[in-house]
Amino acid sequence: MASEMRRVDAVIHERLSSQVALINQISSYIVSAGGKRIRPRLVLLFAQALGFHGPERFELAAIVEFIHTATLLHDDVVDESSLRRGRATSNAMFGNAASVLVGDFLYSRAFQMMVSVNRMRVLDVLADATNVIAEGEVLQLINMHDADISVDDYLRVIRYKTAKLFEASARIGAVLGGAERALEDRCADYGRALGTAFQLVDDLLDYEGKSEELGKNVGDDLREGKPTLPLLLAMQRGNEAERQLVRSAIEHGEVQRLAEIVALVQRTGALEATRAAAETEAEHARQCLAALPESAARQALLELCVRAVHRSS
Ligand code: IPE
Ligand code: IPE
Ligand code: MG
Ligand code: MG
Repeated sequence: MASEMRRVDAVIHERLSSQVALINQISSYIVSAGGKRIRPRLVLLFAQALGFHGPERFELAAIVEFIHTATLLHDDVVDESSLRRGRATSNAMFGNAASVLVGDFLYSRAFQMMVSVNRMRVLDVLADATNVIAEGEVLQLINMHDADISVDDYLRVIRYKTAKLFEASARIGAVLGGAERALEDRCADYGRALGTAFQLVDDLLDYEGKSEELGKNVGDDLREGKPTLPLLLAMQRGNEAERQLVRSAIEHGEVQRLAEIVALVQRTGALEATRAAAETEAEHARQCLAALPESAARQALLELCVRAVHRSS
């Protein structure tokens, strides 16, 4: 995969260019900070697992990374985050307005690239995915500081804001590989389950992770009053006083109580239960892979299921 991913990075760097210096500055600032490049990997691995080796795969892998990067630029503005990929966020460095506008540049560049690939099905999948991601971020905004949302409300947000792009990436790989609709859907199912597991663990790491390893600030979700699964489960499992503590922390974004809340989500088993939910999703993803022929790519997709759950960054 290393040489394949270098090809993707080459496309990314080539297509980032703009006549406007500030766009180049901000986009290369966030892109060169790295990132795990999971979504482009899904495109390549599904294409490879189904025997597709055409050059469009690099373009499409770069496209999903552009969409992802655009969502990160916007997300860090909305979440008022100050650390990303081990660096000051672009909103902290260049301001909110520039970050939002460069995010728009990346989204629209991704669509220019899709048009050049000229596959209607791919355009359909990605237009749909970007739209759903936006819905997810807005739903999350509505849920902010609301301690009464249900686990289903929470799951809907993470399926939309995160799992959808994983799903689309897997589906595009399958489309490139010429999969029939039933197989394509199975690949998409893998992506959706993996993406859900991935966000469950992201939400867990916001409590038990280490900022230096994550490259993001731990505790951001609490500061924002985000009712994520660790908090929802702690409220279900805690006694009345504990429930009140979490409720008040969500309602007022009491990040100064982070240590207390971390102790509580640990004590009530809420973190373990969140990890178990991620494990269940990852297991579902693994099962979807039974539809693919045995190959090195399929093996790599299996390993991603383990890594999505057992990771520290
Ligand atoms: C961060 O995604 C946003 C979430 C969906 C949690 P990644 O963890 O894939 O971010 P990078 O690209 O590796 O930085
Ligand atoms: C994921 O949610 C955001 C997107 C999918 C755009 P988070 O807000 O939890 O992601 P991080 O933790 O900032 O990376
Ligand atoms: Mg965020
Ligand atoms: Mg997060």
